[in-house]
Amino acid sequence: MQKIVVSRKIPQKFIKQLEDIGEVEVWDASLTPMPREKFLTALKDATACFVTLSEIMDEEVIEAAPNLKVIANMAVGYDNIDIDLMQSKGIVVTNTPGVLTETTAELGFTLMLAVARRVVEAETYVQNGEWQSWGPYLFAGKDLYQANVGIYGMGDIGKAFARRLKGFNTNIMYHNRTRHKDDEEALGALYVSFETLLKESDFVICTAPLTAETRDKFDDKAFKMMKKDAIFINIGRGAVVDEEALVKALQNEEIKACGLDVLREEPIDMQHPLLSMNNATILPHIGSASVITRDRMIQLCVDNIKLVLDEKDPKTPVV
Ligand code: GLV
Repeated sequence: MQKIVVSRKIPQKFIKQLEDIGEVEVWDASLTPMPREKFLTALKDATACFVTLSEIMDEEVIEAAPNLKVIANMAVGYDNIDIDLMQSKGIVVTNTPGVLTETTAELGFTLMLAVARRVVEAETYVQNGEWQSWGPYLFAGKDLYQANVGIYGMGDIGKAFARRLKGFNTNIMYHNRTRHKDDEEALGALYVSFETLLKESDFVICTAPLTAETRDKFDDKAFKMMKKDAIFINIGRGAVVDEEALVKALQNEEIKACGLDVLREEPIDMQHPLLSMNNATILPHIGSASVITRDRMIQLCVDNIKLVLDEKDPKTPVV
């Protein structure tokens, strides 16, 4: 008998598919995670689980779930999962690459343009009834046209971002662990060192996943190297950025503004200094949040669970 634990409320059409293969226990809320104790108890006799990035999959999970065969993570990033541990226990971990690439790049682009043109600040100004008249420099921002844009992390999302930049007549640079020489011509992107990317870019876009190598990559030193009017965008993972260093860089006008879709701690603490800065735009981790993409991510998780429980290879294994 298979038992599948689903840590968030998902549409019934997906639950039905899972019910065809076994018993399903679903947490009935879409905006709050399943409480940890409840999650661990539910896992007791589970053979599969469908999780989001809110669930930390560690030793405690292994102890709670002796029969677990597959973890389907509804995200492309999987820094919430101790991959080595799961691998050592023979548990298959899957993620959702591919289906969310374009949607996430679109959100990154939206955020970049919104920060560049101060859209959120300007809209708040109108809502607050402060709009008195047209002004020569009222909410004057920064052009993307002919700007140097540096992408840190040239995976699928970085490449999708670069493809969009081409239409805006920009100079594209990138830095990545491995160079993608074959794609450079098609993307019109120049490979540069991390230091050059920081020094030369008018816009710095981080799409990198969280790894030992990328953790705290954007620190004091990095922000000091950036142009004073640089705009920093992060759609990768929060912990790639030292947020204290970012706050200082904004306060000391070492960079102009930032747009973050990902934070070290999610949801953000309402006392976080970034929330009181009007040159910081914060989104609640919605990179892949279009209805069609979220449907596709869930379907991919369901397919992966079905395949593994059927002793077949999953579509998108991490290990
Ligand atoms: C979202 O951040 C994801 O990794 O899919």
